[in-house]
Amino acid sequence: MTLFESETGTAADFLPATLSLPTLREAARGCRGCELYRLGTQTVFGEGLREAPVMLVGEQPGDQEDIQGRPFVGPAGKLLDRALIEAGIDRSRTYVTNAVKHFKWEPRGRRRIHQKPTWAELTACRPWLDAELAVVKPRVLVCLGATAAQALLGRQFRVTRQRGQLIASPLAEHVTATIHPSAILRARDDQREAEYAAFVDDLRAVATLVP
Ligand code: URA
Ligand code: SF4
Repeated sequence: MTLFESETGTAADFLPATLSLPTLREAARGCRGCELYRLGTQTVFGEGLREAPVMLVGEQPGDQEDIQGRPFVGPAGKLLDRALIEAGIDRSRTYVTNAVKHFKWEPRGRRRIHQKPTWAELTACRPWLDAELAVVKPRVLVCLGATAAQALLGRQFRVTRQRGQLIASPLAEHVTATIHPSAILRARDDQREAEYAAFVDDLRAVATLVP
């Protein structure tokens, strides 16, 4: 007996016939588009307003997100919440999601350590993100960190060089990328404050693009 059914290679096999946030969320619960469905507790789908003018895209759910089934609710999410408030963006008026919808991790002792998703996993999961974009149609799309930025803007994209810039893209009227809030948490003590301030500045620029 096999414990798991094999993955199909793409989330496209699991898309619902009609696209809406509720139908997508329900369908994504059963996704076996890639092998990560075996690793995570549950699919962590995006969350927020269907009419959200701003969509924020992270990398993948972390430990807390995996347990709670909601994006950006752990330490990085708390920092994001604070930065959004400081930048004048109401999180309840955004849509928040991830490039990959399952938590990828490896055990270290009792802890589950985050592992970066592969390009194949990002590609397999992409149909969910495309469907979220098709339904929400955000005016501004913000990639948080290199993984989301490269998935959405191309593998050549360099957040270190191009953060805060507006990137011409068919994905939304305004598209930009900044660092991932986890990078601020990992920054050296003497650099963390400056990293945070620069992150808030990037989000302030986003705030000017929405009514
Ligand atoms: N990091 C992410 O990229 N996404 C989350 O939802 C949480 C942490
Ligand atoms: Fe499906 Fe994405 Fe989860 Fe892979 S990571 S199983 S493609 S929802």
